[in-house]
Amino acid sequence: MTTATKPPAPAATGGPRKRAVGVRRDLTAEDIAATGLRDRWYPILPSHMVVAGESKKVTRLNIDWVLFRDAQGVLHMLEDRCPHRSAPLSVGQHLGDRLACKYHGVQVDGTGTVVSVPGMPGCALEGKQATVSLKVVEAADIIFAFVPLTADSEPTPFVLPDRLADPEVSWFPNFAEWAGPWRFYMDNVLDPMHGAFLHRDSHSMFGGDTSARFRIRETDRGFFFEKTDQRGVNFDWVEYVRGSMDYVDLEIPYAENAGPGGVFGIVGMSTPIDADNSAIFHWRTRRVQGWEREVWRFLYRTRLEARHWEVLEQDREVLEALAADADAEEHLYQHDLGVSRIRRIYRADAKRQAAILAGELV
Ligand code: FES
Ligand SMILES: [Fe+2]
Repeated sequence: MTTATKPPAPAATGGPRKRAVGVRRDLTAEDIAATGLRDRWYPILPSHMVVAGESKKVTRLNIDWVLFRDAQGVLHMLEDRCPHRSAPLSVGQHLGDRLACKYHGVQVDGTGTVVSVPGMPGCALEGKQATVSLKVVEAADIIFAFVPLTADSEPTPFVLPDRLADPEVSWFPNFAEWAGPWRFYMDNVLDPMHGAFLHRDSHSMFGGDTSARFRIRETDRGFFFEKTDQRGVNFDWVEYVRGSMDYVDLEIPYAENAGPGGVFGIVGMSTPIDADNSAIFHWRTRRVQGWEREVWRFLYRTRLEARHWEVLEQDREVLEALAADADAEEHLYQHDLGVSRIRRIYRADAKRQAAILAGELV
């Protein structure tokens, strides 16, 4: 016999209240803002970290997930929760195309369907799609998943950022986990001016003025936040893009001794682990072909990667040192227009998603 969980109480407006996928309580706009906006593709983990024959547990958007590959190497991402009595599937057994829960042996396949209840064959749970299974794509060496708001959400088409989809661009992925809220990451990348201060001693951000004026330039997919009086010298502009996933795109000039290929391009994304921790993804790129590509790849591995790690560590140290309520009482100035803008966008999104869950919006 299966016992259904009590359905959520109806919304005040009379419309059906809904639960966010993988969440068993009502979420407010503040909860959503803290643990991640839904109905988006998010980078989850580097592909190489999910090894054939093993399962890998991760927490993303404050939900525990288990990743595993089937016998064909196809990746699956399930909520890490057995449909029987909620034991984590990640501590069970990998059986090729399914996971077997350690507690009572229930077997769940990559679609989240129970394929066997060994303790009670023929039980009604068999054949039921009772575990959340996310749509996943592996691209640019990273596993991406569409995290739905509700069970009715339709995954949007998966589209890589331009720079990563361009065959003339050569990239290296970079993954880190930071002990800070994901919103601090977005604030940081929408704040180019920190380059001339925090990263002043770095190999790529030593030049140019330490004062500037900025402007926001709208695009049909987001906005640019850019210096009005300096370009091509330091971290002088950033583009925020709302595509099938949210990301930032920016360029930083390289000195001549960094080899051929001109500017250094960065694509950045952040995925909430929970309210206090974030998974940070960057792709470090250069537009290079032929022998120049080989030189760049060699230089990156032997010299540049370590220097970029140093720069990233400077960001991590500041962000992890910020108080949890750092954005509660600030004195912003003109350089923080990009920060204000991204916060407004995300606040509006979180409210809208909370209203959908509350049955106030369809
Ligand atoms: S909790 Fe998984 S089989 Fe019982
Ligand atoms: Fe930085």
